[in-house]
Amino acid sequence: MSISGTKTKKRILSGVQPTGNLHMGTYIGALMQWRANQVDYESLFCVVDLHALTVPEAVDPEVLRRNSREISALYIACGIDPEISNIFVQSDVHEHAELSWILGCVTPLGWLYRMTQFKTKSDKRDSVGSGLLTYPVLQAADIVLYEADQVPVGQDQKQHIEIAREIAQRFNHLFGDLLTIPEPMIPKMGAKVMGLDDPSRKMSKSIGMEVKGHSIGLLDPPKVARKAIMRAVTDSGNDIRFDHASPGVLNLLTLYEVLTDESRESIEARFSGKGYGHLKKDVADVVIATLEPIQARFTELMNEPGYLDGILDKGAERARSIAAPVLTAVKQAVGLGR
Ligand code: TYM
Repeated sequence: MSISGTKTKKRILSGVQPTGNLHMGTYIGALMQWRANQVDYESLFCVVDLHALTVPEAVDPEVLRRNSREISALYIACGIDPEISNIFVQSDVHEHAELSWILGCVTPLGWLYRMTQFKTKSDKRDSVGSGLLTYPVLQAADIVLYEADQVPVGQDQKQHIEIAREIAQRFNHLFGDLLTIPEPMIPKMGAKVMGLDDPSRKMSKSIGMEVKGHSIGLLDPPKVARKAIMRAVTDSGNDIRFDHASPGVLNLLTLYEVLTDESRESIEARFSGKGYGHLKKDVADVVIATLEPIQARFTELMNEPGYLDGILDKGAERARSIAAPVLTAVKQAVGLGR
């Protein structure tokens, strides 16, 4: 059943925070999946700028606004087709914040304190805003507002989708069967791309901003990307097999596998007896071949601000047309409104 009455197919919704640049982990864990599924599902892809405010001291207003535009353009440059997918900026649709308040009121604090991301992010700080704690509630609102069936994300977001399910279930238990319970959609390969400098940590935006050679930014010049890959941590051996690989070698093999779509047997045969230098060179070649068209399209889009504005305006309008009736039904159910 769909409250909004607008569902034509199963629906997916996902988003990326506009903090810094996108990296290969985001591309492989999220955007490649979005692109692959956008035809089979009705798709909504959001730039979640409200989420970026959860670390206010790290936010420069002008930079945040610019990042939101750049990330929207990168969605398109990475192959999200605005003719078939809905691309919009979260803060353009006020229903997210409003629903988040209502869901927050049914979310036990204990559920939020146990979130790994909250623990990691708050550990390093003397004081944190309450938004960092209630962040998963806003994410739940993002998802249920569109009655999304599936949420395509990388492995690190699994816990956030699980809590979104729990919040929706609790709401339904208290106020009637209204909200769609979402499922995570996590790719079989590349769900957790690791840092090149340290394959025990996932490739992350924040580490990438501080540590050279940690990540591959989607807008990195080819030379920079190649250098980071050539310096990637491997091990002292030379065996190139998926089953026996150390974390660093497995990370490189996974990048190669996901970006070329070649079978594991053929990849192992290709690199057999050739050593890590050869593997790194070929990984760098396929990464650069992936980045070049993305960067070219990105530059075109940034030079056409009117086109991008048109897409985001249309995207927000369409998003609102789905979100508004869902929010109205929720308000009705909890006793708000006349
Ligand atoms: P964010 O901005 O941290 O990451 C965006 C997406 O990229 C995936 N990802 C990775 N996948 C594989 N390997 C990596 N190293 C890697 N790094 C990032 C993430 O899993 C994610 O899918 N809370 C979310 C944004 C959000 C959201 C939502 C997502 C807000 N509302 C609603 C889905 C639905 C976040 O911070 O993602």
